[in-house]
Amino acid sequence: MKTILLGGGGQLATDLEKTLADAPVTALPHSELDVCDFNEVRRVLGAERPDVVINTAAFHHVDNCEDEWQKAFNVNAFACKNLASVCADLDTTLVHISTDYVFSGTQSTPYKESDLPDPVSAYGASKVAGEFFVKTYCPNHVIVRSSGLYGVAGASGKGGNFVETMIRLAKAGKPLSVVDDQIMVPTCTNDLAEKIVEVIRAGGRGIFHITNGGGCSWYEFAGQIFECAGLRPELSPTTTEAYGCKAARPAYSVMSSEKLKPLGVDPLPPWRDALRRYLGQKGHLAA
Ligand SMILES: NC(=O)c1ccc[n+]([C@@H]2O[C@H](COP(=O)([O-])OP(=O)(O)OC[C@H]3O[C@@H](n4cnc5c(N)ncnc54)[C@H](OP(=O)(O)O)[C@@H]3O)[C@@H](O)[C@H]2O)c1
Repeated sequence: MKTILLGGGGQLATDLEKTLADAPVTALPHSELDVCDFNEVRRVLGAERPDVVINTAAFHHVDNCEDEWQKAFNVNAFACKNLASVCADLDTTLVHISTDYVFSGTQSTPYKESDLPDPVSAYGASKVAGEFFVKTYCPNHVIVRSSGLYGVAGASGKGGNFVETMIRLAKAGKPLSVVDDQIMVPTCTNDLAEKIVEVIRAGGRGIFHITNGGGCSWYEFAGQIFECAGLRPELSPTTTEAYGCKAARPAYSVMSSEKLKPLGVDPLPPWRDALRRYLGQKGHLAA
């Protein structure tokens, strides 16, 4: 299975590259291939003729997407239309990464793959549009929605990840206020990458929700990070309203999968287990 990874060097792409290392895989970073350069995307993929393209490239700074909505749609949606058409022409499977932010968060039970997206931000809307183009123009597609990503490489688009930011601020002795009214599932990109590859190799098609197990608020997530890392910063809960972000975010975006089990793919371990493994890998675990 010859694979090309778009958005190479990102935190999920780095773990996908590692997971796919037993087969031919080429990771193309933004500097080598801009997904918005339609002709170049067609030329490169046409020359390489991969079996699978995995698109992790995204403009996902949620607040910046509100003002830079044209860029959000260019990267997260229109580039996907081109990519989907190119992959369809080459008979290549397109695996596209999407987000829990396609949902509004008004539900109080986990969102299933069959639930209708109803985004509340420009970022979420651009990702829904990207999904539409992928499923409409590329018959052989897999769309993977995940949430709260953190990985060893750190998200280049956000200058690190939540776990590292919390540890850095705690070590700097800053009092921390973290939102307690947004419930999601923190997901380790190492686990996610392994599951995405399992889904591809099992011949999965369509939309899949893949996250670690359980769910928590960002405040609870921060508390667990500090407990595992043996840090005791002054940590207090706050609300989304008091925090005052530009973009609206879902209050509840836990997702469940109705599609992994029928494909013979087990769910991912709980988020607390994944966090401990990550902290161990990064040398942050308390003795
Ligand atoms: N991070 C999260 O919490 C989260 C949650 C749910 C879903 N997702 C989705 O998961 C996917 C991977 O996210 P991630 O956390 O691994 O992000 P990441 O580390 O920021 O990786 C995204 C990569 O895309 C690249 N990129 C941006 N614009 C591009 C363009 N026009 N052409 C080519 N590459 C471009 C970025 O490069 P530069 O930085 O050099 O521009 C970056 O290397 C994205 O689709 C995102 O929407 C993320």
